[in-house]
Amino acid sequence: MAYKLGEVILSRETISRRVKELADEIANDYGKNKPVVVVGILTGAAFFLTDIVRELPEDMDVRVDFMSVASYGDNTESSGVVRIFHDLKSSIEGKHVIVVEDIVDSGLTLSHLIGLLEGRHPASLKVCVLLDKYERRKTEVKVDYCGFRIPDKFVVGYGLDYAGKWRHLKDIKYVVEE
Ligand code: PRP
Repeated sequence: MAYKLGEVILSRETISRRVKELADEIANDYGKNKPVVVVGILTGAAFFLTDIVRELPEDMDVRVDFMSVASYGDNTESSGVVRIFHDLKSSIEGKHVIVVEDIVDSGLTLSHLIGLLEGRHPASLKVCVLLDKYERRKTEVKVDYCGFRIPDKFVVGYGLDYAGKWRHLKDIKYVVEE
C-alpha cells in the first residue's frame, strides 16, 4: 500500500503557540533556582525539544541530554521492552529531569523508560509529550505536560515519521492511502 500526505492536523502556528504555553508552565514550575535536565528521546522528540527549551527563560538552569531507544517487537506495536542504543552523557542522580517525547501511543515505551530512569534516582522526574494518542493506551503513563490529544490516525511531521520519512515537515499532517 502506498501513502501520501493528507490534511494538516496541527499547523506550525498552532504548534508554536502550544510549545510556548508548555514552556511557560515548565518555567513556572521550576523557576530559576531549580536546575533541570531535559532529556529528549531520539529521534522524533529532537524537533519538539529544541523548540521548547529555546522558549525557556535565560535565567533558568537548563541542561539538555538525549537518549536513543527502541522497543523490541514487531514494527507496528512497541513491546515496551526498551533497548538503549545511545545513553545519556551525564548522570541524572539527584537531578530534576523532564523526559520529552514526541508522542505517547500505547504508553509502553514511556512507562518502561520511566522505570529505567527512576532506577537512576533523579530528584524528580516529569514527562512532557507533544502528542497523546490516548485511545491507544495499553498502560497508564503519567504525562505532566501534554501538547495535544489526538485521534488514533497516522500523523507525520515535526519529528514524526512514516518509515523514516516526513520528519522534516513544519506542520503535522495526516498520512492517507494513495
Ligand atoms: C515513538 C515515540 C515513542 C513511541 C511511542 O518512537 O517517540 O518513543 O513511539 O509509542 P508507544 O507509546 O506505543 O510505546 P519511534 O519508535 O517511532 O521512534 P522515533 O522517535 O525514532 O521515530
